[in-house]
Amino acid sequence: MAERIRAVRGMNDVLPAESPVWQFLEDTAREVLAAYGYEEIRFPVVERTELFRGAIGDTTDVVTKEMYTFQDRSGDSLTLRPEGTAGCVRAVLQHGLLQGQSHRLWYQGPMFRHERPQKGRLRQFHQIGAEVFGLPGPDVDAELILMTARLWRRLGLDDLRLEINTLGTPAARQRYREALVTYFGQHRAVLDDDSLRRLESNPLRILDSKNPDMAEVIAGAPDITEFLDAESAGHFERFRALLEEAGVACRVNPRLVRGLDYYTRTVFEWVTDKLGAQGAVCAGGRYDGLVASQGGPDTPAVGFAMGLERLIELLAITGPPVSPGVDAYLILLGEAAERTGPALAEDLRDRIPGLRLICNAGGGSMKAQFRRADRSGAVVALVLGESEAASGQLAVKPLRGEGGQETLDRENAVSRIQALLDRKA
Ligand code: HAM
Repeated sequence: MAERIRAVRGMNDVLPAESPVWQFLEDTAREVLAAYGYEEIRFPVVERTELFRGAIGDTTDVVTKEMYTFQDRSGDSLTLRPEGTAGCVRAVLQHGLLQGQSHRLWYQGPMFRHERPQKGRLRQFHQIGAEVFGLPGPDVDAELILMTARLWRRLGLDDLRLEINTLGTPAARQRYREALVTYFGQHRAVLDDDSLRRLESNPLRILDSKNPDMAEVIAGAPDITEFLDAESAGHFERFRALLEEAGVACRVNPRLVRGLDYYTRTVFEWVTDKLGAQGAVCAGGRYDGLVASQGGPDTPAVGFAMGLERLIELLAITGPPVSPGVDAYLILLGEAAERTGPALAEDLRDRIPGLRLICNAGGGSMKAQFRRADRSGAVVALVLGESEAASGQLAVKPLRGEGGQETLDRENAVSRIQALLDRKA
């Protein structure tokens, strides 16, 4: 017998039992983004490889080690998007959206990185991201933070911490880079292989190392603060003041440097201690130079992306219970019921907007149908038997312990169902 094919490692299925939580997260995020006037943009999951090399940076881990790159049948080098910012910038430029206007945009979908799969780290994962174009000030940086803070409240997540930092202008970052190369160069003996490799190419990433043997030398490294230009320092101060005014607590983490090269000035991460090593659930920052570097007009920009799998895992630990996808199950007993049942189900869906109703299919005994009703997660079973079908009535039975079965005429049955669903909500 042929061996059964399994999914690619690090790429997960979302099963029906899990999808209500996904929908709760996605629906809530959509509502919060809409509340701030963000508009959805969709762009392909595949782009030309050079887009990512140029935007994310040739020496980053994402570009050097993690991209799914392949040649298509025309011989073009294409890459499955490892993140959304590059494609979003490409799309707004290609369609001329940046002609003197600002835009608040959001997107969602799968991203692909060939990382070592482990808890919280997948090869296909999902993000919801937001990008703002054309607004240079710290007011928008703060808006993104307030928007995500509102999302956490709406999701019932109350233990996320906010870490912020500033990376200054590219010139300030270059000065910092040089200082780090000098500093770590003097401590080569304690650097691991990864860090030695990064020393020339991407020394800021050494600060991210979790190797305990290097903790001391990293702690002694110079801070970006010493190299900041005055304008970036002012931007950061005003950003912090806006957060304080809005009552959002944060910690300045001078070691927060992010793994993608396009950042300038503000960077931030929302982190949790509940998910082990992969604690960042949402991260982003300002990237004022990226649009111009992609051939566009000089356009300030800032954004973030959240990792949905990590948020789902967090919701499973600390979030509110999410109700399953069905409200009611219509049980059909006997020939007359099977004939009139589907029309009755249509009528109920007309009368109760939003009602999620399964109409039994495939026959079955009363016991078997009640078992299906119970498994569906419905809060109410509706029974159409021979006598109900003849009299135009319907039996309504709460399945989650709120009173007994009642046989009612159509009008009263509708009111009773509505009352039971309201109680659940
Ligand atoms: P990022 O920090 O690479 O930033 O990813 C953002 C979030 O995606 C992470 O905080 C994490 O929650 C999730 N994530 C990343 N990699 C994985 C993975 N392998 N498995 C599961 N979840 C993962 C960006 O992608 C930037 N484009 C964010 C941004 C938008 N900056 C400005 N605008």
